[in-house]
Amino acid sequence: MQEFIQKATVLVEALPYIREFEGKTVVIKYGGSAMEDPAIRRLTAQDVALMKYVGMNPVVVHGGGPGITRMLKRLDIESTFHNGLRVTDDATMEVVEMILAGSINKDIVTLINQAGGTAVGLSGKDGNLLHARKLVSEDGGDIGHVGEIVQVHFKIIQVLCGAGMIPVIAPVATDDKGRTWNVNGDTAAGEIAAALQAEKLVFLTDAPGLLSDLNDPGTLISQVTYAEVKELTRKGVIAGGMIPKIEACHKALDYGVRKAHIIDGRVPHALLIEIFTQMGVGTLVTV
Ligand SMILES: Nc1ncnc2c1ncn2[C@@H]1O[C@H](COP(=O)(O)OP(=O)(O)OP(=O)(O)O)[C@@H](O)[C@H]1O
Ligand SMILES: [Mg+2]
Repeated sequence: MQEFIQKATVLVEALPYIREFEGKTVVIKYGGSAMEDPAIRRLTAQDVALMKYVGMNPVVVHGGGPGITRMLKRLDIESTFHNGLRVTDDATMEVVEMILAGSINKDIVTLINQAGGTAVGLSGKDGNLLHARKLVSEDGGDIGHVGEIVQVHFKIIQVLCGAGMIPVIAPVATDDKGRTWNVNGDTAAGEIAAALQAEKLVFLTDAPGLLSDLNDPGTLISQVTYAEVKELTRKGVIAGGMIPKIEACHKALDYGVRKAHIIDGRVPHALLIEIFTQMGVGTLVTV
């Protein structure tokens, strides 16, 4: 009996959070690097399904860097990066779209559905969701089909959420000419959260959060402001894949998203812990 009383207590402890987030939109960026463990993938999908059942509107935007790199290798296509962005020639773009909007997207959709949710996979082309233009690299270099988002037509997300479904979005965008653009998943998540005026934006990644020393998980920065972020970027503490996350947090917070978190997607139920408990996991980015 004691065990069940304890379980009931845990449920009741979640009540204030369930009440706070009822009907609210939470955008979850699911990083490709946090997806590597199939057992954890299943738990993450359960967390997302549960969020929907208790009345939130989870919207998943995913990455897939490692999966794309693996497929390119199988096809003997070299992966090249320029300032952290994947140089995307025609052949690479084809693979990026196949993997992101194809296998990875459908894998996440299937797992959420197996957990009892109703997930619908989309790319930025579906419902005209993401429009992009060519991104010119900071140094003027040509990085091919890498795009930057110019508009989010979020109607399709609202329709799906309103119908009890969970949108799962692959960050592939289009433009008026029907061309295909590879957009960064973090940037897409930030733009989508901003457009939806989401309550929360959560990044699930393969680090405990923002670290002041990459090699030491003990150096987790549990809360960081814009001003501090600028300084950390200048010092090179924020680098590589962390840069677009921090920038996406900025964008989202500027546009009225209330909270932005970067958490460790490799921890079982990291998402539930972040949302339903008062335990501060990962890094909270604030204005
Ligand atoms: N200060 C920092 N703290 C934590 N991680 C950092 C920091 N600076 C750079 N990083 C890097 O950022 C990485 C996370 O970004 P990465 O792009 O690799 O993953 P992701 O965005 O979750 O996945 P995907 O790009 O496939 O969607 C970490 O693995 C780490 O190497
Ligand atoms: Mg990334």
